[in-house]
Amino acid sequence: MTQKYAVMIVATLVALLSQAAWSGDPPPQALAGDPERGAEMAKLCTSCHGHQGRSVTSRYPSIAGMEEGRFIDGMKALRAGDKGHLMANMTRGLNDQDIADLAAYYAQLEPTPWDQSNAESDP
Ligand code: HEC
Repeated sequence: MTQKYAVMIVATLVALLSQAAWSGDPPPQALAGDPERGAEMAKLCTSCHGHQGRSVTSRYPSIAGMEEGRFIDGMKALRAGDKGHLMANMTRGLNDQDIADLAAYYAQLEPTPWDQSNAESDP
């Protein structure tokens, strides 16, 4: 009698646990960015991209308000050495989490008023 109950309880627990493990799986998409960590790292970027990502020279693009996905893609392409060496050097030491954090930080900033080109309107 008690043994039957014990079996039922164990079976229920196993069912609950496997369900919890299933629903607890992270979604297979990109890493979640932490804007506060991004803000710390962004100090490295100010010298070229300006305070809060608002560049004051046409030599460097403004990156404030850039859509996160575009930012991440851009950074990864630059890390792969797609474009000039300047950003290849900047991105070499960054892992995917660092890039996601930076993207989260810059995405929440207001784009430069005269340059809305980085503000993505597509969903
Ligand atoms: C030494 C100057 C310099 C520093 C420091 C620098 N960048 Fe850049 N960045 C550039 C230049 C130059 C480009 C343009 C690259 C190109 O298109 O050839 C660029 C491009 C970018 C782009 C792509 C913009 C676009 O429209 O695709 C992103 C994103 C970016 N930088 C982020 C960062 C971040 C984040 C940091 C700090 C970790 C940083 N940069 C530090 C010079 C710099």
